[in-house]
Amino acid sequence: MARGRAHALASAFGLYAELNWLARTRLAHPERWLEGRVFPQRAALLSVPELAALAHLPLDADAPGLRRAGARSVLPPPMVPEPTPGAGVKALGRSDTGARRPVGLAVADVRHHIHLMGATGFGKSTLVAHLVLDDVRHHRGAIVIDPKGDLVTDLLARLPDTCADRLVLIDPDDSHAPPCLNVLDGADIDVVVDNLTGIFRRIFTAFWGPRTDDVMRAACLTLLKHRAHTGQLVTLADVPRLLGEPAYRLRLIPTIKDPVLRGFWAWYESMSEPSRAAVVGPVMNTAPTPNATHGHLTLWLSERSCARRWDDMIRPDAYAHWHDPTTTNADSPVLLPFFLEYDTGSQPLPRVEAKLAGYAAFTTSTNTRPALLIHTRTASRDRALRHRLTQPARDLGLHVATSSADFTTHTPWGPWWTPLHPTAPRTTLTGLTTQWPHLTPATIDPTDADTPLTLPIPPRPPTTPDGR
Ligand SMILES: Nc1ncnc2c1ncn2[C@@H]1O[C@H](COP(=O)(O)OP(=O)(O)OP(=O)(O)O)[C@@H](O)[C@H]1O
Ligand SMILES: [Mg+2]
Repeated sequence: MARGRAHALASAFGLYAELNWLARTRLAHPERWLEGRVFPQRAALLSVPELAALAHLPLDADAPGLRRAGARSVLPPPMVPEPTPGAGVKALGRSDTGARRPVGLAVADVRHHIHLMGATGFGKSTLVAHLVLDDVRHHRGAIVIDPKGDLVTDLLARLPDTCADRLVLIDPDDSHAPPCLNVLDGADIDVVVDNLTGIFRRIFTAFWGPRTDDVMRAACLTLLKHRAHTGQLVTLADVPRLLGEPAYRLRLIPTIKDPVLRGFWAWYESMSEPSRAAVVGPVMNTAPTPNATHGHLTLWLSERSCARRWDDMIRPDAYAHWHDPTTTNADSPVLLPFFLEYDTGSQPLPRVEAKLAGYAAFTTSTNTRPALLIHTRTASRDRALRHRLTQPARDLGLHVATSSADFTTHTPWGPWWTPLHPTAPRTTLTGLTTQWPHLTPATIDPTDADTPLTLPIPPRPPTTPDGR
């Protein structure tokens, strides 16, 4: 039997007998080599896939019936505590080796990271959920980041109602404004400004000099002193405004009494435009810009969110609203409501064509008319799709435009979209609205999957009294 195994192993590795010259030899004392875990004499030059293949015993397909050593279960050491809820030791489970006993983990130790490993369905998420619920019950703060979503759904279903007012849910799938944090909030103005400038300095070390530090500090102090005087809300988005808009400065600066700040602004006003730009450049580039001058997405429903709503008719990869406030043409809407189909090129063309019927049914039954944008991977796939879809889209009365990743990598809103029409030129998302004046957005109602905990409107982002 051992001979058979040896043959199976050798032939599984036979693949690497070519240029690397892994030759089969008979060893007089194989144990010595095996225990020493050394490759004989000369080093071999291996590619990554070769190294990965040689690093372990061959897989079942190549050497069937090979038994591998599993990991041994060990007794938990005596210093591992037993769970005592309320006294800061969380329950992990029971040991399954030796005398069975409950195993706990001190809260202080949890802060030093835990790494849970297990095949899918092993109970990792369930254990994490129990650990988090324990934190919630004992009024310890907890943050859960869950890329998959099942853990958070389970937790939301189990959290006691009493914690609703200290729960913040940030759901990328949620079209409401996300909860936000005003970093300029804080009782002690000097501490706030010190912390904030310190954080910026550390993040943007490469661009941050003493002068940038002064500018940031003076701008934040001015805004906060203005807030102290007038009670008006100020945010970080006011910093670029203060530095860039003379009219805004004229409103704020005269109310400032602090001689050091007044001196700073006097120096600032005395500079020429170019030298001022050089001074404020780093701050302007790091602070948020409040108003984008071009269009932007005002709504984005993910694939999952779309499936929840319209699964019975269509399965788009997203639904979105493109809004362009800079268009002023009164005849044409500035809103492009659209479904997005991301075509990877793996589906046969008839399957893609069949989706159009679903979109036509959607238009008829909901009496709304969003556009359909199909994004493909390559220009050649784009051509094939256009060839196939133009006639059926026209027959069904659908507004369809296509583009491919060959164009849209950096600016997907740019002039890369071609309506399905043999002679149509490429245009921007805004351009599409001009060509299709009769689009209307889909109706979006809350669905059954929204739980009471996901529904309350999160706090709105701060707005300034002049309505920005
Ligand atoms: N200690 C346990 N005893 C019995 N059943 C359990 C236990 N822990 C988890 N389960 C059940 O096992 C199933 C899978 O659990 P869970 O979703 O936590 O696995 P997972 O390791 O997170 O899986 P995935 O890797 O797929 O996320 C669930 O139905 C859960 O109720
Ligand atoms: Mg899981």
